[in-house]
Amino acid sequence: MLEAKYLAWKERTRDMIAITGATGQLGRLVIGKLKDKVPASDIVALARSTAKAANLGAAAREADYDKPRRWSAPSTEWTHCC
Ligand SMILES: NC(=O)c1ccc[n+]([C@@H]2O[C@H](COP(=O)([O-])OP(=O)(O)OC[C@H]3O[C@@H](n4cnc5c(N)ncnc54)[C@H](OP(=O)(O)O)[C@@H]3O)[C@@H](O)[C@H]2O)c1
Repeated sequence: MLEAKYLAWKERTRDMIAITGATGQLGRLVIGKLKDKVPASDIVALARSTAKAANLGAAAREADYDKPRRWSAPSTEWTHCC
């Protein structure tokens, strides 16, 4: 069930929720839990390898901390990273 606070936020923005380290132990857990609360279409999985992130059930975008110029989605579309 979507929480009222989230719905109010979505009324104000088209931003998505970006999760860094999405292919790691913590990132996988966070994305799994987040999908119980918000639509998967609102989640961006940031990963060094989009192939490795392909089974997460969220849009995968390349994001290697060592190659910031190659990040493949504009950060202005993201509200939250963890
Ligand atoms: N697991 C926990 O319970 C827990 C609890 C509290 C805090 N933390 C903290 O959360 C962080 C992640 O923990 P974890 O257990 O999930 O570690 P992990 O399983 O080793 O995952 C690390 C993640 O970081 C990514 N990564 C590493 N170097 C990167 C780089 N240069 N650019 C982009 N991504 C990079 C890895 O990508 P690849 O898959 O490509 O290697 C992977 O997705 C750590 O700082 C840890 O101390 C973890």
